[in-house]
Amino acid sequence: MNLDNINKKLKEMLTEGRFEHSLNVAKCAEKLCDIYDCDKEKAYLAGMVHDCAKCLNEKQVEDYVEKYEIYLDPLEENNLALSHSAIGSYIAEYELGIKDEDIINSIKYHTTGREEMSILEKIIYIADLIEEERKFPAADELRKLAYAGELDKAILTSFNNTLKYVIENDELIHTRTVSARNYMMQEMSL
Ligand SMILES: [Fe+2]
Ligand SMILES: [Fe+2]
Repeated sequence: MNLDNINKKLKEMLTEGRFEHSLNVAKCAEKLCDIYDCDKEKAYLAGMVHDCAKCLNEKQVEDYVEKYEIYLDPLEENNLALSHSAIGSYIAEYELGIKDEDIINSIKYHTTGREEMSILEKIIYIADLIEEERKFPAADELRKLAYAGELDKAILTSFNNTLKYVIENDELIHTRTVSARNYMMQEMSL
């Protein structure tokens, strides 16, 4: 499927606001490619598609999970804020015809991060948080770091912010984020 057709499909699947966000993430990811020497076409596509499962209703989630035999861990089950990444990676591959594994993984891990993220995975993870319409208090700090060539530091800061947030708000944390954070800290201290 070419980009025009993918965009058409995304417009059907997403709210207007979510489509705008995806466009902003794609543009931001493309810009970051100049700094981090990554393929702009791939980054743009990954940015456009990363939230393709974000606006599904319960029935659609059930249908996709059944159709593609998607494994959702206990934290992801009944939690679209987490599961849209995994479900979206299947939609990208099987409904939108995206075969590139790096793009698929950047969709799959854009919410939690993971150990040993590729450059593209890191770019999509951070672009999701710093695209121009993101106004949450820590976004500016992440933006500065990411555009100053400090991608790993930006991502570690975001993992730490997430950990602090979930503790303060008495929420569950996905273990993948904990592992990703520890991995990144160890990497950076080498
Ligand atoms: Fe997302
Ligand atoms: Fe997003």
